[in-house]
Amino acid sequence: MKINKVCILGAGTLGTRIALQAALSGFQVTVYDINAEAFVSSKKVMSKILRMLTLSEDVIATIQFTTDAEEAVADADIISESVTEELPLKRQVWAQFSALAPAKTIFTTNTSYLLPSMLVDVVDRPSLFCAFHFHDVFTAKVVDIMPHAGTSEEVITLLEEFGRALRQVPVIVRKENPGYVFNFMLMAVIGAAGKLRTKEVASMEDIDKSWMVNFHMPMGPFGILDSIGLDTAWHVTHNLEDAGSQAFAALLKTYVDAGKLGEKTGEGFYKYPAPAFKEPDFLT
Ligand SMILES: NC(=O)c1ccc[n+]([C@@H]2O[C@H](COP(=O)([O-])OP(=O)(O)OC[C@H]3O[C@@H](n4cnc5c(N)ncnc54)[C@H](O)[C@@H]3O)[C@@H](O)[C@H]2O)c1
Repeated sequence: MKINKVCILGAGTLGTRIALQAALSGFQVTVYDINAEAFVSSKKVMSKILRMLTLSEDVIATIQFTTDAEEAVADADIISESVTEELPLKRQVWAQFSALAPAKTIFTTNTSYLLPSMLVDVVDRPSLFCAFHFHDVFTAKVVDIMPHAGTSEEVITLLEEFGRALRQVPVIVRKENPGYVFNFMLMAVIGAAGKLRTKEVASMEDIDKSWMVNFHMPMGPFGILDSIGLDTAWHVTHNLEDAGSQAFAALLKTYVDAGKLGEKTGEGFYKYPAPAFKEPDFLT
């Protein structure tokens, strides 16, 4: 098994970042999405990241963008799937690509909170299927490798090497766990922040300030939510059954319905590109 050609499914927040990092790391990259408009914003985000990293934007031209699923996966050594966090959609996508991909292709999902065992029954090659979950890719560089019971050890080892080749720090999650390791801990913090807000214990700004000041962090839970995307956060939160999570999901839904999805749409809990929490007097 050797990885040269990488196929990314989904040109959104994470698919864009993984594709760019793979191209920067010397892999041949194809990005597939059902929506061609996603490619326009994907390329803009890539340019922005490259400018931030003071790297040449030429690498973008090496990435192939396509809405043709068959073309996207032709000769791919690995698929990294970053489509919207919805179980029925991911199941449909994995069934589709099981029928299209060459037998050698390793299948990985970047799901944040679903488990590989919830998807594996639609996959035609269970031993080559594994969760391979990124964070921000460029500033938060942990990559979680979470197999299901039938993932081959060879695939786990290969993903560890591939993760390092993408300049990430691999973490192996030996038992399936929603949210892996870091997100499991992060969920507890974000969930608590959401409950403090919906119970009106403190303002969003004061909740963020508490976290930022005490832990010397550049942003608090609501800033983090804006960077994740409030739609993605809603998909996760509304599936949690406790009353506190449901109240927070209802709040998130008001933002999603208003098109305020966070940093990616220019507004979420804060307004971008200059959110209030970055102002010099925010923490005074
Ligand atoms: N946003 C984050 O911070 C973050 C971090 C780690 C993991 N993830 C995970 O990555 C995945 C994607 O999240 P995101 O934030 O990039 O979402 P996003 O909404 O920014 O992008 C999702 C993309 O999937 C595309 N899509 C929808 N249906 C499709 C289909 N059938 N075939 C191909 N493409 C399709 C959409 O057009 C969109 O471009 C989710 O599973 C999420 O949990 C997100």
